Amino acid sequence: MNILFATSEAHPLIKTGGLADVSGHLPRALLSNEVSIRVAIPAYRGLHSKLSSAKTIAQLNIDGKAINVLEAFLPGTRVKLWLIDIPVLFDRPGGPYQNEHGQDWHDNAERFGIFNKALTAIACGQTEISWPVDIVHCNDWQTGLLPVLLKLTPKAPRSLFTVHNLAYQGLFSYETFLALGLPGDLWRYDALEYYNQLSFMKAGLTFADRINTVSPQYAEEIKTPEFGCGLDSLLRHRSGVLSGILNGIDDKEWNPGQDTNLESKFNKQSLSKKLPNKLALQKLFGLPQREDVFFLVMVSRLTGQKGVDLIVKALPHLLEMPLQIALLGTGDRDIEAQLLEIAGNRPDKLSVKIAYNESWAHLLIAGGDAFLMPSRFEPCGLTQMYSMRYGTIPIVRNVGGLADTVTNIEETEGTGLIIHENTADELLNTIRKALTLYADRQTWKTIQLNCMRQDFSWKKSAAEYAKLYSAILDSPQTD
Ligand code: ADP
Ligand code: GLC
Repeated sequence: MNILFATSEAHPLIKTGGLADVSGHLPRALLSNEVSIRVAIPAYRGLHSKLSSAKTIAQLNIDGKAINVLEAFLPGTRVKLWLIDIPVLFDRPGGPYQNEHGQDWHDNAERFGIFNKALTAIACGQTEISWPVDIVHCNDWQTGLLPVLLKLTPKAPRSLFTVHNLAYQGLFSYETFLALGLPGDLWRYDALEYYNQLSFMKAGLTFADRINTVSPQYAEEIKTPEFGCGLDSLLRHRSGVLSGILNGIDDKEWNPGQDTNLESKFNKQSLSKKLPNKLALQKLFGLPQREDVFFLVMVSRLTGQKGVDLIVKALPHLLEMPLQIALLGTGDRDIEAQLLEIAGNRPDKLSVKIAYNESWAHLLIAGGDAFLMPSRFEPCGLTQMYSMRYGTIPIVRNVGGLADTVTNIEETEGTGLIIHENTADELLNTIRKALTLYADRQTWKTIQLNCMRQDFSWKKSAAEYAKLYSAILDSPQTD
């Protein structure tokens, strides 16, 4: 099977969140499932220099834009990478979706629209590339036009659309729809139009041959008004082709026994060596170095999704408890400012770093006693799985992938604490419970070991994707 994996992020080249981890690791795991794969991403500024030998394999022109397709390897892997180089659209400072000031690029529809058109041309054999594509595996709204463009092209391969986060939909104006040159009859409520806007997400969900999400629980949730972000009726309509496959984690990169970001490496047999990481983390965050204090950590995008506003609300009470908190994240400017202000008043208990730093993220996850993740919704979530691997007990809401990966400590072989309701009070109650539990070090250690025994490696998920690809190829072609 030849799979063209279309994505807007891939670790270690470009990352804003978990999509990059998945795009960086799933393709590698698929190689051992008799799947041949090419990962295609836009050539953002600076990417060329991170690749040792990229060579041009095709040149095309779409909507007056010159495009170079470069081939290289995803660093550290045998996975072939196709960089879609459109300098006028992607060679700029800032992030993949936003400029340096945190504003969306004004031409995001054109940027990703042309990226999708270029991949359609490649997938349908309209370029010099002679690699027959069987399935285009699309990821999130940035690739949402691909399924529809493929349906419009004769002899096109099939498509799978993976939803990593339904809340980001790629919505644009009718004028943008016209400017993209899409056929006028697609401006229908049962096609690309969504409340008088063009929706890239809806395009993917409507036209893909199959849809999946990154956990089974989220696949169920998005069919309800509470989690469906306005698309639940469409998802109910397509439920026959919708499923959930839990993400995995890279067990080499996230391995406490080999992690060079740590102060002290450790494993199940040497759990006491986790402690120097706690002390190093307290030092890094400017908190008093204390071995015995309950240390709560968080690494997150600071958005409503992650429930950070609940934490802000709970903090006055939380900071009365015998604990320390270290938080690393970036996101909504308001939430960042509120957190910094509270931390400024309680430097002995709360330390906040507004930054994106991979190495610190590893130390936080290794050095904490518990990892806090009170998400309102969570398609999968990777950090709770990383935490479990490092014996850092997750405290999570029972939604989406969190519900699929964390077992309540009240059950046998439990791995974490569950926040049952989306309120500051329930968050506080759960943390009180964690404090009581922490006081009983033997029980705490048992839970840590339960966590560290979990196997979240990509192997199982990759096998499920390979099965899904086969099922797509075996199913009859639809219009
Ligand atoms: P999401 O994709 O919704 O942000 P995930 O848990 O799936 O949530 O993935 C988040 C990824 O981004 C993890 O690899 C996490 O370690 C990383 N991450 C998030 N914020 C930061 C940060 N401030 N610094 C370093 N890594 C971060
Ligand atoms: C999204 C989701 C997150 C998921 C990640 C990778 O960013 O918010 O829950 O783990 O994608 O699939």
